[in-house]
Amino acid sequence: KRYAVVLAGGSGTRLWPLSRANKPKQLLCLNGGESLLQQTLRRLLPMVDPAHVLTVTSNEYRFEVAGQLHAVHPGLACAVLAEPMGRNTLPAIAWACARIAQQTPDALVGVFSSDHAVADGQAFLQAWEAAEAAAERGYLTLFGMKPSAPATGYGYIQAGPPLAAGENGPIAKVQKATRFVEKPDLETARQYLEQGDYFWNGGMFVFRADRFLELLQRHQPLVYETAQQLAVEGGMSAPAELYGAMPDVSIDYGLLELTPDVAVVPVDMGWSDLGSWEAIYQQRDKDEQNNMVQGDVLALDSRDNLLWSEHGLVATLGIEGLAVVQTRDATLVCPRERVQDLKQLVAAVKERH
Ligand code: GDD
Ligand code: MG
Repeated sequence: KRYAVVLAGGSGTRLWPLSRANKPKQLLCLNGGESLLQQTLRRLLPMVDPAHVLTVTSNEYRFEVAGQLHAVHPGLACAVLAEPMGRNTLPAIAWACARIAQQTPDALVGVFSSDHAVADGQAFLQAWEAAEAAAERGYLTLFGMKPSAPATGYGYIQAGPPLAAGENGPIAKVQKATRFVEKPDLETARQYLEQGDYFWNGGMFVFRADRFLELLQRHQPLVYETAQQLAVEGGMSAPAELYGAMPDVSIDYGLLELTPDVAVVPVDMGWSDLGSWEAIYQQRDKDEQNNMVQGDVLALDSRDNLLWSEHGLVATLGIEGLAVVQTRDATLVCPRERVQDLKQLVAAVKERH
């Protein structure tokens, strides 16, 4: 009855020039070794049969994704659903879930983003079990990460009373979510942090397939109808007319903000979004000069830098606090503290080319 859906579409610009339209974050190796997508699948395998794992991605990346999955476990590569265009997370989840529900209406489905790192896999698996116990009772259950800053790029979950007061076992870890707010503004995020009863949404969702579809039908009837139709037709690659008619909507805005039946499992598992060069700098090991170094790099008299070479030698002399990222055809040089403005730079680059 346990299924997993892995989300591997979407593109990112915050890690330019490493992430590009044709090479999004989840397919990159950011913390040494395998890609974030591969790490995500490895994390799941101790608990789920590979035949019960579906990966949803865009048509563009399907072969790259299948190749990466194959390297983790050959059984994973045959279940890649390909979207003709991105419609954000809700249509992707709906399609996969409708397929699963055809065979197993009461399946317990875990949906996992593939664009972050988790240091403690054991803690993750225990939280998944707890989330399933709540899902079995009809809740859309989220993984709550302790917030460390008023970040505006996450969903915020307000944790209420225990879901099953007085009961033991995995369910004891679960709390009712009294509120879900996707990507609040800075002022609101500050308030939530001060209040202390809010968690970040870790981008992982556990629910019963039939329950999810029931809520989807109520709140997003077009996505529901289309997902059912795609599931009945059965193909692994969705027709563009059908898929493109769905709204572009995430599960966060499209469902979680609208339904009261949400629960949260607070979990400390070394979760990191690795969403910016600064986040990567903070997370990775540094050398004696406090440089984070990757690839062929020679740093003389240089400190507090992120120095990344994908192609050829990067040699620095007397620099401080910079991010230098060199790829075959583009190089980024900017102060580390400016990396959050990268979007502007990428927009300007696009305009020029
Ligand atoms: N198949 C598919 N199709 N996958 C997609 C699509 C799509 O159109 N769009 C995004 N994804 C995948 C991404 O690859 C990623 O693994 C995951 O879905 C989440 O999408 P993001 O676009 O990265 O969402 P976000 O980071 O802005 O916000 C979400 O994640 C945060 C935690 O990282 C939300 O769930 C937030 O509430 C949450 O805090
Ligand atoms: Mg993300």
